[in-house]
Amino acid sequence: MYDLLLSIHNIARWLVLLAAVYLFYRSLSGFRLGSYGPADRRAGQIYTGLMDVQLLLGILLLVLSPLVQSALGNVSAAMQNSQTRFFIAEHWVLMLAAVILAHVGSARARKAADARLKQRQALIWYGLSLALVLLAIPWWRPLLRLG
Ligand code: HEM
Repeated sequence: MYDLLLSIHNIARWLVLLAAVYLFYRSLSGFRLGSYGPADRRAGQIYTGLMDVQLLLGILLLVLSPLVQSALGNVSAAMQNSQTRFFIAEHWVLMLAAVILAHVGSARARKAADARLKQRQALIWYGLSLALVLLAIPWWRPLLRLG
């Protein structure tokens, strides 16, 4: 079960990044043109939804991961090691913040008065969310974990 969830979490990272790049491209061109339509709203919903899926998988991984569980057995030793510290104290905190920023972007874009303001909100909040995701991905781990 753990291996399967870790693989899904690994692969879903690429879907998140693909959705983020598409969303960023739409927000930038929509901002320039002063346009915002259903496809822009959908792009935001897809990114936010995929982030929610990663959050759910991540919570399950925190519970099931042998690495996290043994690190929690001796937190002060785990904090001395950069890789275990990353998973018990850094990865989930930054990613949770990225999920929250995605939801803020979604709400602000929905509420803004006109197309340009909606795209401005999308650029700011989704952009900050993407920056955190890029920062908090453990790039030293396998780029594709297929089982
Ligand atoms: C939001 C809350 C999240 C939590 C609680 C979480 C939790 C975790 C945990 C516990 C692991 C390590 C499991 C282990 O090695 O035993 C992990 C690995 C990983 N996480 Fe997350 N994660 C979250 C979000 C994300 C997001 C948003 C992304 C990318 C978009 C992401 C990408 C990854 C990657 C690429 C790995 C390494 C997978 C591998 O080694 O194959 N995580 N995560």
